[in-house]
Amino acid sequence: MRFIGRAWSAAAKLRQRFGEKEDWEAGRLEWVRRNAPGKSFADIGGMFKYVGEIAFMAEEAGATEVTMFDVGDPDIICEGNPEWGWFDKKRADRGSNVRYVQGNLEDPAAVEQIGVHDVVFFSGVLYHTPNPVLQLMQLRAITRELAFISTLTIPEIPGFPQACTFYPYLDPAARRPYAEGYHWASDLLAIGPSTDERPMYGYGNCWWGITRSALVAMLRSARFEVVEERRLPLSPWVTELVVRPLALDPLLPPVTYFRERGEALARGERLPFADWYDRAADR
Ligand SMILES: C[S@@+](CC[C@H](N)C(=O)[O-])C[C@H]1O[C@@H](n2cnc3c(N)ncnc32)[C@H](O)[C@@H]1O
Repeated sequence: MRFIGRAWSAAAKLRQRFGEKEDWEAGRLEWVRRNAPGKSFADIGGMFKYVGEIAFMAEEAGATEVTMFDVGDPDIICEGNPEWGWFDKKRADRGSNVRYVQGNLEDPAAVEQIGVHDVVFFSGVLYHTPNPVLQLMQLRAITRELAFISTLTIPEIPGFPQACTFYPYLDPAARRPYAEGYHWASDLLAIGPSTDERPMYGYGNCWWGITRSALVAMLRSARFEVVEERRLPLSPWVTELVVRPLALDPLLPPVTYFRERGEALARGERLPFADWYDRAADR
């Protein structure tokens, strides 16, 4: 089976090579320049390497309000790379009005912290969490018109549609077919190197290898539909989709709902269920 995995990776790598002429990076930046003017714009997870470049670009292209959201501290050099600079200095040097919000996308408070934006850019974050569907649901709550989703993916597994792989604790031989897909695998913890088990450092790992088909189903569960698929030199190891919100209430009840239901029951009330979101909208 491992031999099959490696052969599968090698074939996918060949396909990458044929596509390398396309300029992946330029295509992403062009998408931002084309979609930011006249819109509110949020870059979620824009600190690493870019250190706000996407947000600044959206602002320069004519976005009305721009938010950058990340876990990182904006006042220090990013991840020990002085050549990347740090956010506060870059913002001051440009005289920029980009709003920096520090937080975790998975925090229930993040939706309010960030606020709803017309256009949301979300690149390189989804494979860093044990909870990708939660992140997409949070993303849906802050997206009014369009979201650009870019994430590492794995090739489809023949006969197993919508398959995903859980990376942590794969042994080195088992990791090899996955690592073959990324020329920077030595930087991808739990794919190249082993899992980082230090307390607090968990988000640095890669958690789920998601096939494109699983990603589309996750997006649908989060109430998004795909409107554009971008062809990439790294395909199928990276997937980039432009998605728009479906006009549907969330599939899940609010995370506080059942606690509140129990509290209401203790007061002798029974909360409504099926039309909860309709009633909330009327309030
Ligand atoms: C791999 S980097 C991607 C950087 C850039 N967006 C790109 O596409 O190259 C992941 C970024 O997301 C941030 N991040 C990871 N998990 C996050 C979370 N749960 N909430 C907010 N930001 C997160 C990291 O701090 C980092 O800046």
